[in-house]
Amino acid sequence: MEIQLWREILNPYELAVKEVTTKFNHLIKEHKDKGIYCPIERVEGRVKTIASILDKCQKKKIAPERIEDRIVDLAGIRIICQFVEDIDRVVEIIRNRNDMDVKQERDYIRQMKTSGYRSYHMIIFYEVDTLEGPRRLQMEVQIRTMAMNFWATVEHSLQYKYKRNIPEHIRERLLNAADAIIVLDNEMSNVRSEIMDAQISFQIQANIVADILNNIQNLYNVANKREIVKIQDEFYRIYAMNDIEKLERFDKQLDLIAEGYRAQALSDTTKIT
Ligand code: GTP
Ligand code: MG
Repeated sequence: MEIQLWREILNPYELAVKEVTTKFNHLIKEHKDKGIYCPIERVEGRVKTIASILDKCQKKKIAPERIEDRIVDLAGIRIICQFVEDIDRVVEIIRNRNDMDVKQERDYIRQMKTSGYRSYHMIIFYEVDTLEGPRRLQMEVQIRTMAMNFWATVEHSLQYKYKRNIPEHIRERLLNAADAIIVLDNEMSNVRSEIMDAQISFQIQANIVADILNNIQNLYNVANKREIVKIQDEFYRIYAMNDIEKLERFDKQLDLIAEGYRAQALSDTTKIT
């Protein structure tokens, strides 16, 4: 097949990968803005390379005209979570979305593959709008923890190195490592709520500090220099106390000060006109 034709086939898949990664990244941002824990740590996406498509066609005896139907991972999304528990929440989020239709689910977490591979797989239908009109495409979504991702990445490199014939003694090591990953994920689950609490309060504090800095920035335009310096010093003093409630109170005070300046500016303009 000509390169140009490949481009045409893969173009809508590129759009789909971009759209879906953007959507999940935005979901992460929404959680952060609201200061709530996000089950998604990070999102990756890729369109299958032509070399890899050719490889798969050969291996699975797929005719060129059936590529889009038979190769379900032309567009691939990978969602990385911190904890195993997060995976079920992400699956639920995807099941409930109106823009994604679940075609198939495979749970390689409760049913580990013989290689030791673990991940939750979903094949979804996703619609993109192209020059030729709407196209409903298949996408593969892999959901896994950071630890599972570490294992899969290393194992994938070894498969590549040994051309899918990993020597027995290395395969054994990989199975041991897979067991260790299960233990690690379990251990992390045991401290999950501790870690979540710490991360959330860190995020809340970051949001308040951003708000305070924004307020101070705005006051630069209206307040006098001496007052700004005083406010800044006060901010550094409170920040050093490491107390979210104090920071929050200070932020509200700044809101009131800014409100006062706005009211004053408003009455000044009414005086002029
Ligand atoms: P392919 O494996 O892609 O030919 O399709 P399949 O029909 O066998 O689907 P499956 O769910 O087994 O695998 C889909 C994808 O999951 C693969 O393309 C890999 O990205 C990943 N995967 C599956 N098994 C393994 C494994 O043993 N090791 C690693 N590293 N990745 C795997
Ligand atoms: Mg496979």
